[in-house]
Amino acid sequence: MTETIQPARKLEGAIRLPGDKSISHRWAMISALAEGTTTIDGYATGEDCHSTLGILRRLGIVVEEDGARVRITGKGLNGLSAPDGPLDAGNSGSTIRMMSGILAAQPFDSVIGGDESLSRRPMQRVMKPLAEMGANIEAHEGKFPPLTIHGRTLHAIDYATPVASAQVKTCVLFAGLFCEGETIVREPVRTRDHTELALRHFGANLQSAKNVIRLEGRPQLKAQQLVVPGDLSSSAFFLSAALMIPGSNLVIAGVGLNPTRTALLDYLASLGAEIKVLEVSEQHGELVGDIVVRGQLRQPGKIAGALTASLIDEIPTLAVLGAATTGLDVRDAAELRVKETDRIATVAENFRRAGVEIEVREDGFTVPGGQRFEPAAYDSFGDHRIAMAFAVASLVASGPSTIERAEAASVSFPEFYETLRRITE
Ligand code: S3P
Repeated sequence: MTETIQPARKLEGAIRLPGDKSISHRWAMISALAEGTTTIDGYATGEDCHSTLGILRRLGIVVEEDGARVRITGKGLNGLSAPDGPLDAGNSGSTIRMMSGILAAQPFDSVIGGDESLSRRPMQRVMKPLAEMGANIEAHEGKFPPLTIHGRTLHAIDYATPVASAQVKTCVLFAGLFCEGETIVREPVRTRDHTELALRHFGANLQSAKNVIRLEGRPQLKAQQLVVPGDLSSSAFFLSAALMIPGSNLVIAGVGLNPTRTALLDYLASLGAEIKVLEVSEQHGELVGDIVVRGQLRQPGKIAGALTASLIDEIPTLAVLGAATTGLDVRDAAELRVKETDRIATVAENFRRAGVEIEVREDGFTVPGGQRFEPAAYDSFGDHRIAMAFAVASLVASGPSTIERAEAASVSFPEFYETLRRITE
């Protein structure tokens, strides 16, 4: 599907975003291992989180869907049953990496894979700690999906993860649920902590201090009534658009404000954006509130070190924002090369199509500010965040632009184009 995006004079209005993708995956998986029926309202509408639900169903879990309300009847830690064929994680790296921790500890074998993009993504980062726990996993060429997982009894480990990855941390903690004794994960930098908050909320004994997480195995997890906050990573597209178009005034209601995710807001505020956070409350351990954004950037952006890990999903749209405003320098971002696409390459190719300059390095890039986006024929390259980032770029061109394979946005945000149209004038 090719989407045509018209330039916008400003963004105005109030929007709500689909439920947080990271939280939805985790709450669904943990619900399946809890006892009783968990109700999750505001479950992420994107395809990725539905891949997770599809897999849980194939493992014998009853999952009922009514719009964004999902009811999952868990059968406890020993309640999953052997699937009758390969499990399909679609485009979702979170699904395959987190589920691997659960599948490795089952008394049955399973095969889990996904689409072409997922089949190129590295899995050693989860295979290595799981092997240390006693798991037996085979992968295509030793590192790519599909994974053939020979389930068995695992043992707890103390694991210092070399990559800053919440998916790896979650995989090890999920495997640790099935082990006797204490599983410890040590992170090089702190990554999103939705797994820790959720496991504690469902009743696990989990302590975290600085970058070290300790989980007591074999907990009894109890069903919950939950509401997923809006996805802060999806807000990045709208925040960027509002900051690129002077005179915009946007409210994003009911967004997740977990401090391990809000680097985006601090980063934009540090460059001069006027960002207000209102009506903050706590829901099931997660912070939620409304964001109001106005104003313009005044400083050039620099993203490096731990900040890169915190903003990794937002970098494509921040690159667009940087090019149109004060510039951006991104360092220590080799991880971008192994996302749904090589996001350094796909951003650079779309910039080229719009006549926008970028200097690319192996682990980052520099984009000069104050550039004009020409009307362009963009491609999502099948990557949801690239589709949405370049829809935002299209708003500041002097004429309409097109996005090929625009439907990729549905992986995390099926209502994206509709929402964008509603607030653009
Ligand atoms: C996610 C963690 C990040 C992020 C991804 C979602 C999660 O991946 O890019 O979109 O929900 O844990 P990594 O763990 O590979 O950094």
